[in-house]
Amino acid sequence: MRDALGNVQSVLVLGGGSDIARATVTRLVRRRARTFVLAAHHPERCADVVTELTAAGATTVEVVPFDANDTDAHPAMIDDLFDRFGDFDVVLIAFGVRGDQAEAEHDAQAALEIARINYLGTVSVAVPVANRLRAQGHGTIVALSSVAGERVRRSNFVYGSSKAGMDGFLLGLGDSLVGTGVKVMVVRPGFVLTKMTEGMDPVPLSTTTDVVADAIVTGLARGSETVWVPGVLRYLMMVLRHVPRPIFRRLPV
Ligand SMILES: NC(=O)c1ccc[n+]([C@@H]2O[C@H](COP(=O)([O-])OP(=O)(O)OC[C@H]3O[C@@H](n4cnc5c(N)ncnc54)[C@H](OP(=O)(O)O)[C@@H]3O)[C@@H](O)[C@H]2O)c1
Repeated sequence: MRDALGNVQSVLVLGGGSDIARATVTRLVRRRARTFVLAAHHPERCADVVTELTAAGATTVEVVPFDANDTDAHPAMIDDLFDRFGDFDVVLIAFGVRGDQAEAEHDAQAALEIARINYLGTVSVAVPVANRLRAQGHGTIVALSSVAGERVRRSNFVYGSSKAGMDGFLLGLGDSLVGTGVKVMVVRPGFVLTKMTEGMDPVPLSTTTDVVADAIVTGLARGSETVWVPGVLRYLMMVLRHVPRPIFRRLPV
């Protein structure tokens, strides 16, 4: 349960190795969050963040193995975590893969890998998480979507379509939870400098994990349902979404 000042106290991260997740939990511990469960694809890579959270005052920090592809295991895993750690105020869905667009355009397995992790993986965890949050009567699902899903571009349509799918699912899930005490906050960053974008040339309006994490913390305090990072993307995408396809196709996006 959030404390009397509305501060988040307990956090479950699905995709605990994500750079954006790391920046976010670092901020939350400074704001008095005390319990962190990091479900990570490679738990052994989370040692630094465990040390950082513990040093900053977290009382419980546990890392558990998690594979977004292993959808059969998700309901039992989620139940086990809620049974062992009690209520979570925030469940951050931070896993995802960018994949190789050129390969995925021609190789169904490569395309399916992106769709499975980003879309099916999200659906698979979001339903059992929502069930547990509904039962506890409070909590926020924070999910890292992307500006790429708002208007899917030719240059990364495989990733973009997987984000469009997960984004739509989560917005609908949020609508279904109105009145239960549970919220869904969909976060749509643009290009963020993380290991996912390593080696790529930054684009205009590129941002950092710190800026995304600050926007998440502000969104949590405000009870926002959608968060764009940087904020100006909300207005840019409002326009881009309506550009007629023959013109959109010619834009350098
Ligand atoms: N960076 C950007 O420009 C950007 C922009 C918009 C949205 N996003 C979204 O933000 C989220 C976090 O990305 P990030 O930028 O922080 O990149 P990141 O550091 O690469 O984080 C992605 C995380 O997903 C995990 N993951 C990949 N496959 C998985 C699987 N099968 N099961 C469980 N976890 C898996 C990765 O774990 P391993 O590395 O251990 O495999 C990694 O920890 C992603 O959903 C991404 O799509 C990123």
